Order: sequence, then structure tokens, then C-alpha cells
Amino acid sequence: MRILAIESSCDESAAAVFDGEGGLLAHEVFSQIDLHQIYGGVVPELASRDHVQRLLPMVDRVLARASGDGKPIEGVAYTAGPGLIGALLTGAALARSLAHAWAVPSLGVHHLEGHLLAPLLEPVPPEYPHVALLVSGGHTMLIECAGIGRYTLLGETRDDAAGEAFDKSAKLLGLPYPGGPHLARLAETGRPSRHVFPRPMLDRPGLEFSFSGLKTAVLHAVRALPDASDQDRADIALALQDAVVDTLVAKSLRAVAHTGLDTLVVSGGVSANRSLRSRLDSAAAKQGVRVYYPRLEFCTDNAAMIAVAGHARLAAGERDAIGIRARAQWPLDSLHPPGNL
Ligand code: KG4
Ligand code: ZN
Repeated sequence: MRILAIESSCDESAAAVFDGEGGLLAHEVFSQIDLHQIYGGVVPELASRDHVQRLLPMVDRVLARASGDGKPIEGVAYTAGPGLIGALLTGAALARSLAHAWAVPSLGVHHLEGHLLAPLLEPVPPEYPHVALLVSGGHTMLIECAGIGRYTLLGETRDDAAGEAFDKSAKLLGLPYPGGPHLARLAETGRPSRHVFPRPMLDRPGLEFSFSGLKTAVLHAVRALPDASDQDRADIALALQDAVVDTLVAKSLRAVAHTGLDTLVVSGGVSANRSLRSRLDSAAAKQGVRVYYPRLEFCTDNAAMIAVAGHARLAAGERDAIGIRARAQWPLDSLHPPGNL
């Protein structure tokens, strides 16, 4: 089955064409960073309006690139939640309209399931069952994945997500939005152990996270150095990154041990972080745990991952009900295996 997929849950407009036999045929992402940067964060109304302008020409381009063999599109998938409701509705309305015009089925996809399935686009995909660490801008979760749509939440953050800890700390350090990648770059020149920030909840058993205290630690460090040099700021950035990474590594391996599994999948925007990848790889290797990541461009929001999730479900016969629906909130563990309605 060949499908078109559309992603518009936040500040990236994206489209992809995916084929059950040929794999990913074309995809494109447009980031609205320049649009939101002066506001220091995503402005929902501006995001929606920009999606409306970008998506259709982008869909035209990916369809043109994927149409070499003349095979038709047989379904349309789109992100139906969770995310910004107005932004979601732009993609949902476009996807539903195209599906209606082409007389093919459409299906709303869970954004986080998209992130979880992004590593399936790699030449060597992870096998099930496995534990997934999902670290995005809004979520930090450890999930036991028995198969597609068979998710058991093992633990999540009680307050800020790991991505938020990066983004809010970056703001305190005067870095532009979105802060995560900027902070990671600054941390490369940081000197180790100049500051040691808490590892929240690491000394307690369990698989829950709490990152909100870290921005307070960063705030105190910034205030203590009113004339901070670039080096001082890099030292703080490194300390923040170390605290987040240490916590994610320890809890992920704890989750793997807890489930008795030997495979860990890491996805979501923060999985692009190089320090997280290298520290996780070496800690996991010592425990005989295999770790899988999406390629860097599929860590952050994209439509290729929505296509993988949509294809699994559309090919199993799932279809949207009548009516355009998007959900700002949508619990991941309310999903079911493809086709099992
Ligand atoms: O998955 P994603 O693209 O969007 C959501 O669904 O939330 O994740 C975005 C998050 C942001 O918080 C961003 O700062 C963070 O991922 N991020 C990073 C890096 N690249 C993206 N955080 C740390 N290091 C990075 N290299
Ligand atoms: Zn995302």
C-alpha cells in the first residue's frame, strides 16, 4: 500500500510518501523556527497559519518526487494529536480533503507512536518486545513496547520533559529558541565538574522523572555569575546536559533490567543529542543491551515517522470515522494493535 503522510502538530510542516514495498519514497520538512524565534517560543496561531500556506505545495512536491512509477496513493495518514489543536486541524483538514478527492481512506495517527516507530525506517530496525525511551519537547516516557500499538507506560516525567529542561535552561543562558540543540552545542566547550546539578529522583527506586528543579539550578548558577563569560555559560550548559543525560541513561537501563528485555529504542527530539547517544551506547554495551535510534533527521518532528505508523494501521484496514477530529491530548496507552478495533 502506498500512502501520503502529513505532520503539523507543532512548528514543523512535513509531508512524506511511503510504500509498503518500496519504503520511504519522498519526504520534506519545513521548520518554522525563523517565524517563532523573536517570540522565544511557538506562537500557536502563527504556526497554524503557516501550516496552511506550506502544506499543500509541499504535498505537491513529495507526490511529484515519488510518482516515477505511476502508482497511485492508496491512503492518507496525518498527525491527529497530541499537539497544538489549531496546527493539528490544518493537517487533518488537508489530509481528509485529499483522501475524499482521491476516494481513498484516511487515518489520524498518534504523534508519539510516530516517534516510537521512527527507528523502523532504519536498515536494521529494532525487534519487539523492547523498552522505548521517548524524549521529546513535551514528553519523557519509558514504555514497554510488545508490538505496534501494544504500549505499557513504565514511567514518565512528573513535571518538565527532558526537552523542556534543555529549552528552558537554554533560555536562561540567553540562547535562541529552540534551545536544545543550541545548548548542546555550547556544552561542547564546557569544562566538566565546574557545576554539579542534581540528578532528580535518581536515588529513589522507580522509573519516574522530574526535571523542573534543574531550571532552578541553572537560574541560580546564572545569577551567581552576573558577568558570565562564554566559558562560564558553556560550563553551566555542560552541567545541565550531564544531569539530564545521566538521569535518562540510568533510568532507561533500570527499565530494561526491570522488564528483563535486552533492547532499548530511543526516539524523539532529544534522542538527537550526541552526549546522550554516546553515554547510553557505552553504558548499554556494558550490560549487553542493544540500543536503536532513528537517524538524526527523524529524531525531531517529520512526516516519515507518521507514514510508518499510518501505513501499519491503514494496511491493517483501519480508517477514520466521518468527521474531522484532532486531539490536543491523547494517552499513548489507549492505542491498540493495528486493525484490532
Ligand atoms: O520530538 P520533537 O521534535 O518535538 C516534540 O514532539 O516535542 O522534540 C523537540 C525537542 C525540543 O525540546 C528540542 O530542544 C529538543 O527536542 N532537541 C534537543 C536536541 N535536538 C532537539 N535537545 C538536546 N539536544 C539536541 N541535540
Ligand atoms: Zn515530536
